[in-house]
Order: sequence, then structure tokens, then C-alpha cells
Amino acid sequence: MKAITHARYGNTDTLTFDDIATPAPGDDQVVVAVDAAGLDMGVWHRMSGLPYLARTDSGLRRPRGSVLGSDFAGRVTAVGPAVVGVAIGDEVFGTADGTFAEHAITTPDRIAPRPRTLSAAEAASLPTSAVAALQALRDVAGVTANDRVLVIGASGGVGSYAVQIANALGAHVTGVASTPKLGHVRDLGAHDVIDYTRHDIDSTGETWDVVLDGGGNRPVRLLRRVLDEHGTLVFYGGEQGGRWTGGTGRWLRGLLLSPFVSQHLRVLASTVSRDALLDVTRLIDAGHIEGPVDRTFPLPDVPAAIDALRAGRIRGKAVIVP
Ligand SMILES: NC(=O)c1ccc[n+]([C@@H]2O[C@H](COP(=O)([O-])OP(=O)(O)OC[C@H]3O[C@@H](n4cnc5c(N)ncnc54)[C@H](OP(=O)(O)O)[C@@H]3O)[C@@H](O)[C@H]2O)c1
Repeated sequence: MKAITHARYGNTDTLTFDDIATPAPGDDQVVVAVDAAGLDMGVWHRMSGLPYLARTDSGLRRPRGSVLGSDFAGRVTAVGPAVVGVAIGDEVFGTADGTFAEHAITTPDRIAPRPRTLSAAEAASLPTSAVAALQALRDVAGVTANDRVLVIGASGGVGSYAVQIANALGAHVTGVASTPKLGHVRDLGAHDVIDYTRHDIDSTGETWDVVLDGGGNRPVRLLRRVLDEHGTLVFYGGEQGGRWTGGTGRWLRGLLLSPFVSQHLRVLASTVSRDALLDVTRLIDAGHIEGPVDRTFPLPDVPAAIDALRAGRIRGKAVIVP
């Protein structure tokens, strides 16, 4: 089968459009034919091996898996003898090992039936990003109706879902993004927007009950300044934090400070499970969220897709179609 592989950490020039063996399922595994594969910033981290801290998960000297990509929508083509509840032909979405390929291996606890109303590309844009947004807002911050929520990174993959889900929870949403993407953030349902290229988040003197921090690398003191006295700050991302730890130094400072202040400073570590995928599907079925797919790329163009994401040229999500 065709696949995008990498044998060492580096830039997109380390990627190869390859012919490799189609995987066969182990006892408790499922093989899926990939109809579409979602791209998110985690793919860049696994490709580059940066920050180095992330290599504890992906392999210290060289990448553990040779095929990139984790999110997908597709069809089950083979199941191991111990698998129950999943059958050949099922249309599913979720995460798998190496989805920038025609087939990928997964397990039943990482997949769920594909939402009926979505295209394969829209469904593939959901797993990592929508689940992260839902878990940040609902499980970590406990957002309820009328909360005022600030989403920093609102035009990105996670942020585009966060704006929609915060809206569905009844919150008043302010999205932070760059000038060309403000319209996209408004279209997703943000009540207010802040153009961070012109004013920073503290320019209006407002405070928010919940701040999701997923873009830029703002100091903890600035984030706390825009947070209500008893509000919750959720760190979930940020890309300019250096080669060793990325932005996680700020996260650690926040966690250490949290017990000593009235505000709640939290870190998101999201997990894509079958239950989380079913929760997202319920939001889709209720008409609360849709897949904000900006562009699709054919499989050989994965390097161009990753470069576009990294350069900030994607609004919402990019999806790979094998
Ligand atoms: N903790 C977790 O469990 C978890 C789960 C998923 C993802 N993540 C992390 O979350 C982050 C976002 O991932 P993603 O896939 O959504 O990436 P993405 O699609 O590239 O989105 C990044 C966002 O950051 C914004 N941004 C960049 N510089 C900014 C600045 N100075 N101020 C405000 N916003 C800025 C971008 O806005 P413009 O394009 O408008 O400039 C864009 O909306 C990444 O660091 C990723 O690793 C963490």
C-alpha cells in the first residue's frame, strides 16, 4: 500500500511517499481502509521529534512508528480473532497507528461509528482536535451556561472546535486569532474576537471565567491578568517554547502556582477514547458543531500540508485524502 513514512526526525524533507506492506491485525486489533486522515500539530511534533521532551513518547533516537498520522475516518477491512463489537465493513472514525497510508492498525477502544451527517474528511478532522476541545472545556474547566470563555488559538484545529463547543455549552465566547482568520472565528460562532496582531488579550481590561491557552507563548502573569479572580486557565498548547520542553515550562509554573492562588491553573492531557468520540458524535448529531475543514491534500502532498499548517496557512483543519 502507499504510505508517508519517515525513518528519522527532521523537517518535511525527511518524509517519503513509499510502498509498504498492508498491515494485518493482531488478536485484538482492527485494520481500517483510510478514507481521510486528519492533520494536527501533534503530527509535526512526531515528525520533528521536537520538543525533545515529546520523544519519551515517540522514540528517543529515532521515531518508533514509521508511518505518520493518527486521526482517520474509514472502513474496517480486517479484525483479529479476539475483537468483539466491530465487524468488517463498519464505517468508523478515531485514531490509529500511521493513518497517512491506505490502511492502518487500531483497536476497538480507539474508534466509534462515523457520524452519519459528515463527509469522511469532516469526520477525520474530529478525533484529536474536537476531543481536546471538549475535554478542555467540559472536563477540565467545567464550563457552564453564561460563562465567559476566551479561546487563544481560536482559528486553529483545537480552537475551531473549542469555539463551537463553548457555544453549545451556552458560554459567551471570545476568540483570539490573526487578522485574516477573524471572519472564520466569527463564522464558527464567537461573540467577540481579538486580533492578536493588533492588540494583546489584556488591551480591553476585560476578564474571563475560563481561558483556553493554545496559541502563542504568553507569560503566566499575562494570562492570569485576564482571568477572573476564581476563573480557570487551561493550558493546552503553544509552539514557541524552545527545543527541549516546548511551552511546558509555563505549564509547570502554572501548576506549581495554582494551590497558592484563588484562580485554577490547569493543563490538558487529552485522550481519544471510544466514549469521547461518542460524546463528540452527540454534539454533531444535535447540530452543535461541524467539521471546519479548510483544505484537503492528496497523500503524496503530506509534506506540503504539514508545511502549510506550520506556516499558519490553514483555517481550522487540513485533511489528507489517500
Ligand atoms: N494538551 C493536549 O492534550 C493537546 C491536544 C491537541 C493539541 N495540543 C496542542 O495544541 C496546540 C494547537 O494545536 P492545533 O492542532 O490546534 O494547531 P493549529 O491548528 O496550528 O492552531 C494554532 C493556533 O495558534 C494560533 N496562534 C499562533 N500564534 C499565536 C499568538 N501569538 N497568539 C494567539 N494565537 C496564536 C494560530 O492563530 P493564527 O493562525 O490566526 O495566527 C492558530 O489558531 C499545539 O501546540 C498542539 O500541540 C495539545
